[in-house]
Amino acid sequence: MSIVVVVDSVDVDLVSGLVWDLGVSGIEERALPDGAVELRIGCERTIAQQVLEVLAERWAPNAEPVAADEGLDAWRDHAQVWRIGSIVIVPPWLETPIGVDENDLVIVIDPGHAFGSASHETTRMCLEAVVDLVTPGCAVADIGCGSGVLAIAAARRGATMVVATDIAADAIVATLDNALTNDVADLVEVSTATIDELDPTTFDVVFANIGAATLASMAAALVQVTKPEGVLVLSGLLGEQVETVISSFEQTGALRTEIRADGEWRTVLMKRPR
Ligand SMILES: C[S@@+](CC[C@H](N)C(=O)[O-])C[C@H]1O[C@@H](n2cnc3c(N)ncnc32)[C@H](O)[C@@H]1O
Repeated sequence: MSIVVVVDSVDVDLVSGLVWDLGVSGIEERALPDGAVELRIGCERTIAQQVLEVLAERWAPNAEPVAADEGLDAWRDHAQVWRIGSIVIVPPWLETPIGVDENDLVIVIDPGHAFGSASHETTRMCLEAVVDLVTPGCAVADIGCGSGVLAIAAARRGATMVVATDIAADAIVATLDNALTNDVADLVEVSTATIDELDPTTFDVVFANIGAATLASMAAALVQVTKPEGVLVLSGLLGEQVETVISSFEQTGALRTEIRADGEWRTVLMKRPR
């Protein structure tokens, strides 16, 4: 299911933040000649009404449901390779660029209809955290795995236990396919398990690039699955949402360690105390 809405260019991040929070699977942007931006939002039928209602608070006149998945693949023509430190994310239909050497980690990702091509700032900030935090032998959770890009990068960095979960069927399919392509299918456990179903005190690093409202609602459970001294990487946040989300986690005893920024987007690192 897709929903199309035309917004002012200054509202693009706001709209994206609002609908990511609801669990949409992809957003395609197209600049219009008058300076406005058309957003084509992919989502499961079950949340389409909710997405339309949120948009209707400000942008209703331009929102319309369109045929299933129509236009969701147009971004493929503009896909590109992304380098994040030593990690190089390559769509399977593009060449690995010149200049990649044996110290780089080339990861081939086809997101299908899930989120996570690395074109979004939040994914790239999380990949930076993979480079900084994931060390050989550690246990990693990727909650809201989308394409599986973070889980797969963690496994390729040497994590020996990686759990990847998502509520969207497209994400599960993409993560399984991408894990196979990158030879880490035996390391990455992919499922629709809810955060409450994961074992407590298990993960050295927990990634959740999932939006403010969902993060706040899951705060206690996300901290619960993290090992003492383990790190939570919380992303999908706009600047004005950061303090609310941090305070939900602080109420569970977690400690803030760092706030990273890329444009409007923020990634918060927190620690479960010993
Ligand atoms: C912004 S994408 C992140 C994808 C990928 N991890 C990345 O960093 O690019 C958020 C993902 O969270 C999923 N999601 C939303 N609500 C969720 C929930 N309550 N539990 C698990 N996954 C959820 C969505 O389906 C979507 O795939």
